[in-house]
Amino acid sequence: MKPLLLALLLSLLFPLQAGQENLLERGRRIYLDSCASCHGISGRGDGLVAANLFVKPRDFTLGRYKIKSTADGELPLHEDLYTTIGFGMGQRNSMPAWAAMSSGDRQAVLAYIKSLYPRFAEEADAALKIIPLPLIEPLITSETIRRGQKLYDDLECWKCHGYDGSGNGPSSAALVDGKGNKISPPDLSKPWLFIRGSSRMDLYQTINIGIAGSAMPSLNDIIADEMIWDLVDFLYHEFVHIGELAPR
Ligand code: HEC
Ligand code: HEC
Repeated sequence: MKPLLLALLLSLLFPLQAGQENLLERGRRIYLDSCASCHGISGRGDGLVAANLFVKPRDFTLGRYKIKSTADGELPLHEDLYTTIGFGMGQRNSMPAWAAMSSGDRQAVLAYIKSLYPRFAEEADAALKIIPLPLIEPLITSETIRRGQKLYDDLECWKCHGYDGSGNGPSSAALVDGKGNKISPPDLSKPWLFIRGSSRMDLYQTINIGIAGSAMPSLNDIIADEMIWDLVDFLYHEFVHIGELAPR
């Protein structure tokens, strides 16, 4: 009985382990082919071309990510990273959108990237604190826009983003990312530059969750939900919407 059980267990365990190893091997191969020139052979964001890039490639050994649906200090969800790899991060940095890469290859390269930061193996997605998406998008009115404008002043968004939204506020010149590299706010009237996206829901997420590893703060737990929507409406009406109509 016992040897039989053992054999059954082994046969169940080993294919799994071999499968996992293959996934990482496949991921490493794709990584070296497609990602290492920017993100570096060891994943530290120090690839051959990194020195010439204004926005530096992510250092995968630090586990700090900009686009996520989890609270400050938490790891991103697997799905957050998978989505970013497929969609890219706007047109203000050199990160390509890997939309043509098969989902199997994207999963493999993602597994490889995650293996460079051990906390990913220790903390399952289910244990992370997710910041849920709002269920409804409230209506935009002249009143919400007016309130949002006041918040943009009071919360000093202008200090970095400037009164005209172009990113030339008095603090903007001194901003650095989590690794001390210079970083600047995007021109808010050029929505194609946004790393998360420019729909009202995307803007809500950016303001609510912030952008980790950059100077952009998270306002979740700091101001009421309704106020975040007011800010969204001001930005959308004043800058983003106009950029959406402009020729590129
Ligand atoms: C031409 C350079 C370049 C290549 C090639 C490249 N990246 Fe990037 N990647 C970047 C830059 C630059 C950033 C940082 C953008 C930012 O912070 O705004 C980035 C950021 C990322 C992020 C961080 C997302 C977040 O939320 O912070 C992930 C994940 C990523 N890249 C995955 C990949 C994968 C996977 C590949 C290969 C299949 C790859 N990258 C290839 C330049 C590149
Ligand atoms: C201390 C400086 C600073 C302050 C204050 C600040 N931001 Fe930002 N913000 C940034 C930087 C830097 C970025 C670009 C981050 C990046 O791409 O890595 C950014 C990006 C953004 C974006 C674009 C997101 C995207 O997808 O690319 C929006 C929208 C935004 N901020 C809104 C706001 C609002 C609203 C406020 C006020 C509540 C605010 N910011 C306050 C520095 C700041």
